[in-house]
Amino acid sequence: MGSVVKDVALKEDAPQTFLLEKHIEYIAAYGANKEDYEYCMTEYLRLSGIYWGLTAVDLMHSRNRMNENEIVEFVVSCQKECGGFGPAPAHDPSILYTLSAVQVLCMLDKLDKIHIDKAVAFIAGLQNKDGSFSGDKWGEVDTRFSFCAVAALSLVGRLWSDCPINIEKCVEFILSCMNFDGGFGCRPGSESHSGQIYCCVGVLSILRELHHIDDGLLGWWLCERQLPSGGLNGRPEKLPDVCYSWWVLSSLAILGKLHWIDKHKLKMFILASQDNETGGIADRPGDMVDPFHTLFGIAGLSLLGETSLKQINPVYCMPQDVLNKLGVNAQILDSQ
Ligand code: FPP
Ligand code: ZN
Repeated sequence: MGSVVKDVALKEDAPQTFLLEKHIEYIAAYGANKEDYEYCMTEYLRLSGIYWGLTAVDLMHSRNRMNENEIVEFVVSCQKECGGFGPAPAHDPSILYTLSAVQVLCMLDKLDKIHIDKAVAFIAGLQNKDGSFSGDKWGEVDTRFSFCAVAALSLVGRLWSDCPINIEKCVEFILSCMNFDGGFGCRPGSESHSGQIYCCVGVLSILRELHHIDDGLLGWWLCERQLPSGGLNGRPEKLPDVCYSWWVLSSLAILGKLHWIDKHKLKMFILASQDNETGGIADRPGDMVDPFHTLFGIAGLSLLGETSLKQINPVYCMPQDVLNKLGVNAQILDSQ
């Protein structure tokens, strides 16, 4: 019995143009009503939600639609005594929300509003002896946390001077998570997963260590994520999902292999996942939209060359102009 490819079919009446104005309205309205059920239920990831929304509207040239003072005040209120950030003031700090806080403040040019040295100490305090990072005081280890640490430190300018972490060990740990298929998992021995690949490729890119990667082998594995619908999945045998147009596509972009997939088909899959009434993008056509998939759909379209959007940086998932202004960059392999 042959294995059946899990995929979806795009309907003929699915959207085929980019609904820029609708997405701006969707993001601007999300969070404006703080009594909203969905808004209340997502408090545990609020700070990352702000990063997704702000990045999306900024890519759509509409950052002025967000209340910047309110955002900065909220971010500042999420910093704890230990220097780390929680998703909201009443929640425990984690390296995930610490990166989101730094990203948001970089976009708003307001890094000076927080205690940077304390945030840096919080991040450095989460590095373990083997070079890995824990996400918070509870200690779980995951390559996502290595990415958060390295990305945040580079954004605040503490990677190349006065660096508080052991970079050599950090690279050693990432390489210990590399698999026979060229991909990476969340810990040594864990199966390859596109989200973790983005994180590990991102760490090696920021640290200028991409030469350790077998880019042909990994590029091949990443291309195999594209399904007949044009959408990308995160692992073999999984359904396509718009957020993977980011995790997979950005990894291919860093490896100089964006042209290895069918860009037009992926674009049509992302466009079909838009809601043409409410605006916003879902994980796949016909599902409920949310800010997470809206950002990664838009970010994917930017990488695919959508001209109505700002250019996005594949490593930081932030508008390129923000990074240019900060003088932050990472290694990208030549196209081949
Ligand atoms: C899949 O998650 C995605 C990942 C594992 C990568 C997450 C990356 C970060 C948190 C780093 C910061 C990100 C950016 C863009 C700056 P999932 O839990 O949805 O996986 P599943 O599809 O297998 O459920
Ligand atoms: Zn998803």
